[in-house]
Amino acid sequence: MLGSGELGKEVLIAFQRLGVETIAVDRYVNAPGQQVAHRAYTIDMTDGDAVKELVAKERPDYVVPEIEAIATAALADIEAAGLAVVIPTARATQLTMNREGIRRLAAAELGLPTSPYRFASSAEEFRAATAEIGLPCVVKPVMSSSGHGQSVVRAAADIEAAWEYATSAGRVAANRVIVEGFIDFDYEITLLTVRALGEDGQPQTYFCEPVGHRQEEGDYVESWQPQPMSETALAEAKRIAAAVTGALGGRGIFGVELFIKGDTVYFSEVSPRPHDTGMVTMATQRFSEFELHARAILGLPVDTALLRPGASAVVYAKFNGKAITYPNVDAALRVPESDLRLFGKPSAALPHRRMGVALATADDIETAKIRAHQAADAITPNPGA
Ligand SMILES: Nc1ncnc2c1ncn2[C@@H]1O[C@H](COP(=O)(O)OP(=O)(O)O)[C@@H](O)[C@H]1O
Ligand SMILES: [Mg+2]
Repeated sequence: MLGSGELGKEVLIAFQRLGVETIAVDRYVNAPGQQVAHRAYTIDMTDGDAVKELVAKERPDYVVPEIEAIATAALADIEAAGLAVVIPTARATQLTMNREGIRRLAAAELGLPTSPYRFASSAEEFRAATAEIGLPCVVKPVMSSSGHGQSVVRAAADIEAAWEYATSAGRVAANRVIVEGFIDFDYEITLLTVRALGEDGQPQTYFCEPVGHRQEEGDYVESWQPQPMSETALAEAKRIAAAVTGALGGRGIFGVELFIKGDTVYFSEVSPRPHDTGMVTMATQRFSEFELHARAILGLPVDTALLRPGASAVVYAKFNGKAITYPNVDAALRVPESDLRLFGKPSAALPHRRMGVALATADDIETAKIRAHQAADAITPNPGA
């Protein structure tokens, strides 16, 4: 597992329950997934030689990336040499780590509907791009996640600041950004899409019920399932998700991010791995997105059935500190049909590190959201001594 945060941790647990030997890799010691794996390594995963050295030493059957910031060229070499199966494919990890790769695949090659977009590598190109796309527009470094370097330009006066912000916050030095037309969507969803082996042993595409979510400053704060959708929009969402995951190939779960306005669906981006907004499936589905990922990878049967409507709400720590304690867990768990995942992160960091998630189910998503928030609000992470 390359990357062993809260999502990787759940995938590791799912693998272990199926009797699989697991190796958790992260860039810092005692990452959540490292606490539950058979063996743990701490390396710089953007260092291709370090990744290859570890694969040569451990000889895993599967290399399962949890994050985007990995030396994906090394994954391609590992795959080409037949050393391990890269999930879902090395090419998928390469295309999705860069907004340019996945946008060109989805919009230009597959002809899927997206926001209008331009790329820019200099302040001059950037100004031209914002003029062509028009305002408001959304600016993102092509290599970034969790809203880093991302901003909305609403007025001409914001243009310069958006360029400065994007080029100072990206993952690599290259000052390349995407400028997207702002989609005034009614709601946004993650369509969890599973590529797994069907009964006939051939790859098949399965869909979970749509996950609705709300983002603040590029970070998800709450999600719920199922998001109600018109039949037309749901069918279009599935068509888009099947097309993009089919083009990426391989086996595993994908989080296909879509914007919906009326019956119109726009492709936004895709994670070739479990999605943070999909943590709600730990409460709602027969098998969570993590269990589905593990099963799909291993070629085992999957079942995407929803059992009960539910919601998730993120627990943040709003301070820098170590040895975090969580008072009021009892109060949180007294909320009807609630549950918690406290990730076990060894430290908290400003502005808002995600420390856990509250889950809840109910007869309807509105009640489930209220319950998840009650549970999340009860938890107040404290810095330790
Ligand atoms: N073109 C757009 N129009 C409107 N909102 C957008 C657009 N692009 C992104 N957003 C909002 O910002 C959030 C984060 O953008 P996203 O491209 O998913 O970045 P990240 O890779 O950081 O998740 C989206 O979930 C959506 O709420
Ligand atoms: Mg996103």
